[in-house]
Amino acid sequence: MQQAVQRQVRAAVEPADRTIRLALAGCGTVGGALLEQLTRRSSAIAHRHGIRIDVVRILVRDERRDRGGHVPRDLVTTDLHEFLATDCDIVVEAIGGTDTAVVIARHALMCGRALVTANKALLAARGAELADLARRHDAPLSFEASVAGAVPIVRVLRDALPHAGVSAVRGVLNGTTNYLLTRMHAGATFEAALAEAQRFGYAEADPARDLDGRDAADKVAVLAWQAFGVPPGRVHVETRGLLPWPDRIVADAVALGGVARSVGEARRNAAGVSCTVEPVVVNGDSPLAGLVGADNLVEIETAAAATIRLAGPGAGGDATASALLADILAAAPSPPAPARNVGPAADTRRHRWSISVPAARREELAAAAHRIRVPAADVTEDGLHVRLLTEPVDRSLAGALVRALELQACEPVLLRVER
Ligand code: NAP
Ligand code: HSE
Repeated sequence: MQQAVQRQVRAAVEPADRTIRLALAGCGTVGGALLEQLTRRSSAIAHRHGIRIDVVRILVRDERRDRGGHVPRDLVTTDLHEFLATDCDIVVEAIGGTDTAVVIARHALMCGRALVTANKALLAARGAELADLARRHDAPLSFEASVAGAVPIVRVLRDALPHAGVSAVRGVLNGTTNYLLTRMHAGATFEAALAEAQRFGYAEADPARDLDGRDAADKVAVLAWQAFGVPPGRVHVETRGLLPWPDRIVADAVALGGVARSVGEARRNAAGVSCTVEPVVVNGDSPLAGLVGADNLVEIETAAAATIRLAGPGAGGDATASALLADILAAAPSPPAPARNVGPAADTRRHRWSISVPAARREELAAAAHRIRVPAADVTEDGLHVRLLTEPVDRSLAGALVRALELQACEPVLLRVER
């Protein structure tokens, strides 16, 4: 039964060179969307990456909750120990919080498994420790989904701009608050807009983390880490969210002739790295004001390349799952490396060979075979040609006979016989 359901998750019957076993912790907004994408994209993944991803265990809190047809029920467990004991290559952590999440993360890395997480609270609290474990156990740790949803800011900071002289990373880093501010500027009430953001899956399980700025502060800490190498536990993020007066923030921004946005920033200065999250009034024609709904925008100020902007969906199941999927594919164990010290070699097996010549040259064939000591298993003639079938012999012996016949212009034809 379990295998049958795994097949559902794989969906495709496309050829794949390797199978990656994935254990998923959390099947809410993000984990559920990831499962759905793994199912929908399995065929494309097999084609493009040559891998098939088998979900082998799913950890949740409530086993009875209805999760839709794409979630195989017999893979679901509420037993943390059973989850940890599951044999797998990659662990995806999408439960949130820091208590159970850190147990899962530590265990995965200490077992040498790849860990992919969307959990910025975990990284802000334990990022340095987890990175150290990852290094010591040679286990990949990936967290693109933890900041700015589908916007690939972690990868850009880490891989694309290592020597660009980044001086600041700033922008809108919380989709829920941007959604709220957009809707409130359009006349919606705070309560109605928050209910919508929760319905769309943008908000954290505890939406207070979005509203009071802690969620964005965790992301600023992760960005400061990636941009400046300062471990998350070593930065202080001065944080002011939308609470307690979200309506007044919008009203004041309008009175000032601008638009309210919640902006997070990590900036290097002479003393170190300063980090903030706070409401900001921006001009109506600025890129931040143009950012609507749950979109995020990150500006990277660099010495070498001026300002680079990345924007896109910053929250929600699909946006976040797409970043998780990219990390999963990047972390998937590589195919076995080609063997070293393997060079060209002769075929050492013995084969049967058929050597034919025109019927008029039968004497030359018999004489050459005798001289070179090629044992004949059979000799046949069809009027046009005479054909000698050898006993199993080395390739070199058959080759020597053919060369001898060629020297006599006997036009030999050599076939290896596999029948
Ligand atoms: P969610 O909808 O509340 O889902 C959480 C999932 O984890 C649920 O399936 C829940 O089980 C399970 N879970 C929670 N605590 C657990 C525990 N102690 N043991 C076992 N299972 C547990 O949350 P989410 O929105 O998907 O967010 C998950 C993570 O992704 C968080 O770290 C969040 O910050 C991050 N993230 C979210 C978004 C977003 O747009 N939502 C975007 C980027 C990153 P039940 O289903 O049984 O309750
Ligand atoms: N609650 C978060 C947000 C999810 O609204 O930005 C994405 O990290």
